[in-house]
Amino acid sequence: MENSWIINEIEQIAQFGKDKRGVTRLAFSPADRAAREYVEKLMRESGLAIRTDQIGNIIGRIEGTDAKAAAVVTGSHLDTVPEGGKFDGIVGILGGIAALRTLKMRGPLTHPLELIVFSGEESNRFGVSAIGSRVMTGWTSAKTLGKLKDQDGVTFTQLLAEQGLDINHLDQAVRRPEEIKAFVELHIEQGTALEKANKTIGIIESVAAPARCKIIVEGVAAHSGTTPMDERQDALVSAAMIILAVNEIALEQADRGVVGTVGALKVYPGAMNVVPGLVEMLLDIRGMNHSSIIKCLQEIKDAVSEIAERQNTGVAIEILSSERPASLDGELVELIAGICRQQGIQYQHMNSGAGHDAMNMARITKAGLILIPCKAGVSHNPDEYASPEDIQKGIDVLTETLYQLAK
Ligand code: GLV
Ligand code: MN
Ligand code: MN
Ligand code: MN
Repeated sequence: MENSWIINEIEQIAQFGKDKRGVTRLAFSPADRAAREYVEKLMRESGLAIRTDQIGNIIGRIEGTDAKAAAVVTGSHLDTVPEGGKFDGIVGILGGIAALRTLKMRGPLTHPLELIVFSGEESNRFGVSAIGSRVMTGWTSAKTLGKLKDQDGVTFTQLLAEQGLDINHLDQAVRRPEEIKAFVELHIEQGTALEKANKTIGIIESVAAPARCKIIVEGVAAHSGTTPMDERQDALVSAAMIILAVNEIALEQADRGVVGTVGALKVYPGAMNVVPGLVEMLLDIRGMNHSSIIKCLQEIKDAVSEIAERQNTGVAIEILSSERPASLDGELVELIAGICRQQGIQYQHMNSGAGHDAMNMARITKAGLILIPCKAGVSHNPDEYASPEDIQKGIDVLTETLYQLAK
């Protein structure tokens, strides 16, 4: 019963932002707002008291018997990447609703329970990811976010105002460590480790650290028919060399768990008959080992300067963010493992290459992350899929974990 409810709701939510391929529900877009409204209704119908904070996180709560006790919290996100799937984030939201509903029916617990729908987990057009949990944990501020502008010149302050949110009140969204006893997120794996090992649950010990950069290559726009090959300052040719260099440098560090991606490229003016004058590229480097990431970044910087000089193009690198890997809580890892054993569920300990709101929550509370397999590891892709059976097992483990923490 519960399971068919979830499968049906996954399809319902996928209608918000349904695209030619997959689901495009970017943070703070009309589709995202509609999905949030829909989910808020589901949360209300499940008996949760709802409030929205100043970054747009939706917080649903069930009180416990001890008015002073810290909350036991679960949550995830509703926004997607462009042309994303139906499961990334959503499994944790619907799983959280299902878990809280079950626990509410079982009767009052000592601690309050909360489900948080975090705003904007995916990297947004301002180059900031997991913005809801970042603000909630005080990891960024109105001062920093107030400086952000997208490429059309729209400020983050304006974007928030369009949602009825005031950047000057952002600090009201910050939670104190004493308010939260623990945070546990349920999510799809977005990799193949569980499927390969034939395990149903992955219990995360560390989440990889991302470093993000914007690289701007400046050449000279010119007529593609009249500019001789040896007189060009083609920004896209330099950019192509930079992409290859990133790939090579990350490959060299691959045995230390580093991955490097240029995932976005803008070419200006972007016409068939113009030698590209300017290219903007976005680079994402991740890994479990901070010093390997720093080494990678340095090598990329050197390679970029060398290419720019050789190609007679200008270059600027802006570090958008650089973080350390997040260690999740050892006691929670043990608690979740014990629950899997008790429920006869095959599990394994592992690390997560993907970023999650849990890694930000780990800064203010004990944080745990429960992963379930997704087919062939495919994610950030319309073909993303997790089976109803695995989703149910993930919910069972989440429910029991929240129960043990809140009883
Ligand atoms: C988002 O899903 C990320 O891991 O970057
Ligand atoms: Mn994602
Ligand atoms: Mn996600
Ligand atoms: Mn993510």
